[in-house]
Parts: sequence; structure tokens; C-alpha cells
Amino acid sequence: MTVCEYRPGLEGIPVAQSSISYVDGQKGILEYRGIRIEELASHSTFLETSYLLIWGELPTKEELEAFEYEIRHRRRIKYRIRDMMKCFPETGHPMDALQASAAALGLFYSKRALDNPDYIREAVVRLLAKIPTMVAAFKQMRKGNDSVQPNDDLDYSANFLYMLNERKPDPLAARIFDICLTLHAEHTMNASTFSAMVTASTLTDPYAVVASAVGTLAGPLHGGANEEVITMLEEIGSVENVRSYLEDCVQRKSKIMGFGHRVYKVKDPRATILQNLAEQLFEKFGHDEYYEIAVELEKAVEEKLGQKGIYANVDFYSGLVYRKLGIPTDLFTPIFAIARVAGWLAHWKEQLEENRIFRPTQIYTGVHSVDYLPIEKR
Ligand code: ACO
Repeated sequence: MTVCEYRPGLEGIPVAQSSISYVDGQKGILEYRGIRIEELASHSTFLETSYLLIWGELPTKEELEAFEYEIRHRRRIKYRIRDMMKCFPETGHPMDALQASAAALGLFYSKRALDNPDYIREAVVRLLAKIPTMVAAFKQMRKGNDSVQPNDDLDYSANFLYMLNERKPDPLAARIFDICLTLHAEHTMNASTFSAMVTASTLTDPYAVVASAVGTLAGPLHGGANEEVITMLEEIGSVENVRSYLEDCVQRKSKIMGFGHRVYKVKDPRATILQNLAEQLFEKFGHDEYYEIAVELEKAVEEKLGQKGIYANVDFYSGLVYRKLGIPTDLFTPIFAIARVAGWLAHWKEQLEENRIFRPTQIYTGVHSVDYLPIEKR
């Protein structure tokens, strides 16, 4: 066996062969199944894109209608899951609530048949359908309200915004939200996808796969960054403070949230699309200073850190869009999870096609042949 060099964070080490998505970090290119993200953002929907990611090709009209129909009719969650969620502390983070609820699905759908395509499809439909309902339910329940039942007249994204706010969303807001989901649906071998694949490789159920990925996505270096971006913009407070804030971060060697990426060394193409969506939203629903602060900060970071390959990533503008849609800050990462379920499931399915359990190695740095010291002698 070839012994590989140790690379912290597995940087540059392939852990799988995959045909799901492709990133060129130098040119700022992202493709899902060979289709550029800009094309999908302009012409596709989140559910069509999910189908593409999971089954490898764009669906026909009939296939898409059948897929949308199945998802629309699987959105409700069992009352026992709702009851369980009501017991969650209202101060808990929605990502923790989501992780627990996703795992709980495994209790209700425990029959596992990983070699049966019908089982795979059912699990895909169930997870895509129910995860948004769970996110919206926790938002209601922590205020002491009952969850809002899904509205069968509304499509995927409009229904989520409806369950969140108890009113039908503006069509532009719903379309922009749907594009945000498309942009976040998949991104090659990131931390949460890797986590999903490690879990999948043990041949456990897909609910455990998604629950482990949700736990990984929650961290501030991954999905949690979009939340931190808003906190940072609040802290900056005004356009005038941007440059001194940045200087201070650079002096303290602290990270500027929403910037930098392991793979992209230019601006993340999703950040460009999101910036454009943010502009459309601000145009329609009115401007606020956060957008101006963000644009100024991006300019300043580019001047200061651009030569190190540090540019805006997907999380920089997504928070601004969600904030303008009236979504509470701590739901930004759960929304990322709603979208990324598509990518996780695509990798789950791909992993099952040629599975080998993940069992890497380590470099032992400890000592050997140490005598056991009785407790009274320590
Ligand atoms: N602000 C300031 N400096 C940065 C930033 C940043 N946001 N990101 C990287 N750097 C600097 C580091 O300080 C380091 O500098 P040095 O070589 O002088 O010590 C260099 O760039 C390399 O940074 P690493 O942290 O080693 O890069 P890595 O590839 O491990 O990390 C990561 C990538 C985690 C995304 C990092 O850029 C970061 O923490 N960014 C802020 C958090 C964030 O926005 N995360 C969302 C990522 S996108 C996603 O998960 C969906």
C-alpha cells in the first residue's frame, strides 16, 4: 500500500470518485452534472436540480411532475415527531433541533432496503419533503405556537416561506429563495458531504446519514458562517467603519466571515449570483445599510487580501438575502441544510453504488510500553 503524506484537513486528498459536481477554484466555475450553476440558477428550480443531482440527468416533464407531486404529498410530519419537537428547549439552536428531528425519522421509517430502488426513491422524497417542514415547525414551536401545516397549493419554496411566516410569499421572494436553494444544493467534497459519506459507508439508514451531515454543517467554519456574517455586519454598523474593522481583524489575525475558501481562490460564482439576487430584493423591497456595508467590505477585503486568494464565498451574500426575506438569523444554516440535503442524498446514492467502508489511518504520536500506575501512586 502506498503511504501518503499527512495533510491536515485532508487538503488535496481525493476521498471518492464522483460525477455529481465539479469546481474549478481558479476560474470560479461550479457545475452540477456538467451544467454551469449560472444556467441552473437562471432556468431550473430547486426540485428539478435535486432530481438532476440525485439521478444524474434532468427529468422529463412527466418525471419532474411525478417527483414534485410525491414531494408535495409527503410534506407533513407525524404528530409524534411534532410532539417530540415541542419538548425541545426554545432556546436551543434550530440546527440541533433539525439534527435530532432528522435522526428521529429513522425511528419511524426503520425498514432498511438499500439495494431496492423504490426504498432509495422513497427516502429521497421523504427527506426532501419533510426537512423544510421540520425547520419551519421548530420556528413556530419555540414561540409556543402550533406548526403551520404545509399548503398543497404552493410549490416547494413558496410553501416553506408560507410555513415560516403564515402567509403566502411574494412571488419574486419565493423565486429568489428557490434560487438560493439551488445554489446551496451541492458543492463537491465539503465537510458535511464527507461526513454524510462516512456515515453512508457503514450502510446505515439515510436518516442517520442526513443527521450526521446536519451536525457537521452546523459549525461556523462551514454552514454556520452565513449567520456570523450578519453578526459581523451588525458589529461594523456603518460604511465608515468598514476599513477600520477590517484592519483590526487583520491585526488580530481573525477571520472575516463569508470570505475565503479551501477551493475557490477567486470570487465564489454563487456569491456573484447571490449578490445579484440581493440587489433585486433591495430594489423591490427597499434598501438598508447592511447591503452598502457588505459591498464596501467586499471591496476592502479584495484590496487587502485578494492577493492571498481570499474573496467572498457563498455565505457572504446569502445572509443578506435571507435577512431581507424576513428570515431569523439562526434559521440561515437550517436553510442551507434544506438545500444541501439534495447533495448529501446524491452522494449517499453514489456511495451505495460502489461502497467500501471508510477506514483511514492515522500517524501515532503517542508513547509505548507504559506501565499502568495504580491510582494511589499517581
Ligand atoms: N479572513 C481572513 N483571513 C483568512 C480568511 C478569512 N475569512 N480565510 C482564510 N484566511 C487566511 C488565513 O488566515 C490563512 O492565512 P495565513 O496563511 O497567513 O495564516 C490563509 O488565509 C489560509 O486560511 P486557512 O484557514 O488555512 O484556509 P482553509 O482552506 O483551511 O479554510 C475556510 C477555509 C475555513 C473557509 C476559511 O477561509 C474561513 O475560516 N473562512 C471564514 C468562514 C467562512 O466564511 N466559512 C464558509 C466557507 S463556505 C462554506 O462552508 C459553505
